[in-house]
Amino acid sequence: TDSLPLGPVPTYKVISPNVRYTDMHILADYTYHNATVSKNEIDGTLKVIPTETKYKFKTEVNIPKVGLMMVGWGGNNGSTLTASIIANREKISWHTKEGLKSANYFGSVVQASTLKIGVDTKGNDVFIPFNNILPMVHPNDLVLGGWDISSLNLAQAMERAKVLDYDLQRQVKLKLEQLKPLPSIYYPDFIAANQSDRADNLISGNNKKEHLEQIRKDIREFKAANQLDKIIVVWTANTERYAEIIPGVNDTADNILKAVENSHPEIAPSTIFALACILEKTPFINGSPQNTFVPGCIELAEREHVYIGGDDFKSGQTKVKSVLVDFLVNAGIKPIGITSYNHLGNNDGKNLSAPQQFRSKEISKSNVVDDMVAANGILFKPGEHPDHVVVIKYVPAVGDSKRALDEYVSEIFMGGKNTISLYNTCEDSLLASPLILDLAIITELMTRIEYCAGDMKEYESFDAVLSILSFMLKAPLVPPGTPVVNALSKQRMAMENFFRACVGLAPQNEMLLEHKAP
Ligand code: NAI
Repeated sequence: TDSLPLGPVPTYKVISPNVRYTDMHILADYTYHNATVSKNEIDGTLKVIPTETKYKFKTEVNIPKVGLMMVGWGGNNGSTLTASIIANREKISWHTKEGLKSANYFGSVVQASTLKIGVDTKGNDVFIPFNNILPMVHPNDLVLGGWDISSLNLAQAMERAKVLDYDLQRQVKLKLEQLKPLPSIYYPDFIAANQSDRADNLISGNNKKEHLEQIRKDIREFKAANQLDKIIVVWTANTERYAEIIPGVNDTADNILKAVENSHPEIAPSTIFALACILEKTPFINGSPQNTFVPGCIELAEREHVYIGGDDFKSGQTKVKSVLVDFLVNAGIKPIGITSYNHLGNNDGKNLSAPQQFRSKEISKSNVVDDMVAANGILFKPGEHPDHVVVIKYVPAVGDSKRALDEYVSEIFMGGKNTISLYNTCEDSLLASPLILDLAIITELMTRIEYCAGDMKEYESFDAVLSILSFMLKAPLVPPGTPVVNALSKQRMAMENFFRACVGLAPQNEMLLEHKAP
């Protein structure tokens, strides 16, 4: 609404003995409430003990100058996001057959959603923009750059993508022409053979160590040339095949660095980028489904304390699935069959038409209901699972306008069956591009938050694997040995409540006691 404060700088203040604002930081004392459960092995009863853990959170308030470097910059997502940021920066409007449209950031949680900060004296909810909860970088201020194996400049790439309206393309063209992706790493074995004809912008040679060093140099040079405080790198390049996990090669941090020195064939381009970023203390997010983060890569990130996040943007079909299955299972309805068809005609679809690349996508799309099913032992016996099938076909005629057809068959009361069919159509890249912003902006914010708990003497950063990004990701990477949460509402709650904690506010509980027991 009109009354909402705009812009990323928080326009509210929490007045509490637990919260302190300084020129540099917001400092919050926070009590984390949980419960530990133990089971009596004899009679199966559970003992539940409420727990309280004291945390201190420290958030740096000054917003740095941030670079966003995309791998696959000249692709549909990369070119669409770049053109859209320029259109937003310059407040561009354009004509379509439906009338005049103007630039926005719809589809970005950070830019276009709100959160409840409290209630006013009359008991009405008060909302603030999501990006107001803590100081966050505004997308218009990101300095954009990146790599692509295709040499087209960003104007040509935008034209090739066929996503944005012509009247908009026309107006951003001059700016985009000046942007050209840096040469990248191409190991043909990792992406579909049908991509070879666009691979004309390559870092030469076959020496993987030299490739790693070149990417590190690119990051340093981009930072210096644009006087940036920080860079975030997002992989929005083609889906690669899975890399084999080989003991002695990619299983530990030391082994993987050695394997790069030896140019081992199982080290994928995306993993080289991830390693280069980690060594440059630059957060790296993987927006594609492949296992870029092999165990050695995760270990290196943990060792170097550099944030990583992944895998695979959660934009359409899977996002809906992580809402719908959560709803069904929490309503006591038992999904027994989930069948998902996709067809799309963009370059992503072309790449995914090759079996090994499809397999990466199939894996990341398939595990999304596991946690919701496992949480309900009344509907599902241990190990029982709905039938779940994912099909993807390349149909050039539909271009970037992806079709997703889903059927959910569930068992309901007294042997009944319920079937829900969904048909979803929209430009794939217009759903995915805003997620790149959310991932980059929240990751950057996380680099400015530190915590202190228990007997820790000093503030520290969080685990290197940023599970807080799960809302935007299909197959969320979590710290080794910790549970994966796919349910969208829980993922959103985790983000919201964590940021609230950083300003000393209790988690959103939706109890509305003030109205029920005033
Ligand atoms: P795209 O095929 O249009 O763009 C990928 C770009 O990466 C191409 O320009 C290609 O030349 C470049 N590329 C390939 N290998 C490279 C390398 N080693 N280094 C640098 N550049 C390289 O694909 P699109 O539609 O932009 O999607 C990008 C990725 O995001 C795909 O992996 C896709 O599966 C994933 N994704 C996309 C979603 C969407 O809704 N658009 C949703 C979820 C994931």
